[in-house]
Amino acid sequence: MNTEKQEPLCCAPEPLSEQPYGQEFWNSKYQVGETGWDLNAASPALVHAIDGISDKNASILIPGCGNAYEADYLLEQGFTNVTLIDIAPDLVNALKARYADQSDRIRVIEGDFFAHEGEYNYILEQTFFCALPPLLRSAYVRKMYHLLASEGHLMGLLFNREFEQEGPPYGGTAEEYQALFGPHFHILHMADCDLSHPKRLGTELYIDFEKKCAACANLELNKK
Ligand SMILES: C[S@@+](CC[C@H](N)C(=O)[O-])C[C@H]1O[C@@H](n2cnc3c(N)ncnc32)[C@H](O)[C@@H]1O
Repeated sequence: MNTEKQEPLCCAPEPLSEQPYGQEFWNSKYQVGETGWDLNAASPALVHAIDGISDKNASILIPGCGNAYEADYLLEQGFTNVTLIDIAPDLVNALKARYADQSDRIRVIEGDFFAHEGEYNYILEQTFFCALPPLLRSAYVRKMYHLLASEGHLMGLLFNREFEQEGPPYGGTAEEYQALFGPHFHILHMADCDLSHPKRLGTELYIDFEKKCAACANLELNKK
């Protein structure tokens, strides 16, 4: 068995322009106000996740951040190193204006998550994974692995349901997530979320996945 210490390879998916749900698709959703996913407030489950982070200087990323109400909560709680990224330019321009006077504590990036480079202690997930075509799920897992610092955490919410209509959103199950994330992450927690917004109650899993060391991840991958 090859146990050579090596980071699992990360390959970018197709360029954003060739993805079915790219920049134009998402920007138009914000332009016409078709944002049914928007909770209009920080998600209680993510507030819970944030309350568990004791280091106020921890680097925290919110990918596919949307209106990023959780970022307001992070700043209120004194966090100093927050990064938001989204591909929808109109949304990002509004966020940049909203946080213009706090740019020493929060960075707002217009861009494709899959092309983003950085290193984070925590990445917060809410309705970003489900917004991506399922073909990108393996790339999402690998990208999360590479963006997280050693022992970093991916925390938040994943749907535990299927949707009748063609997505986005795309659903999934705990078994699928276990198979996808398990080789790269310690699944510290993945269970029904009792802090969901009422309209999602009983349909979401609260997750806390810790990045495995490269050798552990390779061992798992080589077992396959
Ligand atoms: C369903 S919305 C969720 C927004 C936010 N997380 C929330 O819960 O309100 C999905 C978001 O992901 C963004 N997005 C989609 N594909 C992306 C990509 N490849 N890189 C960065 N953001 C992306 C969209 O612009 C949109 O804001």
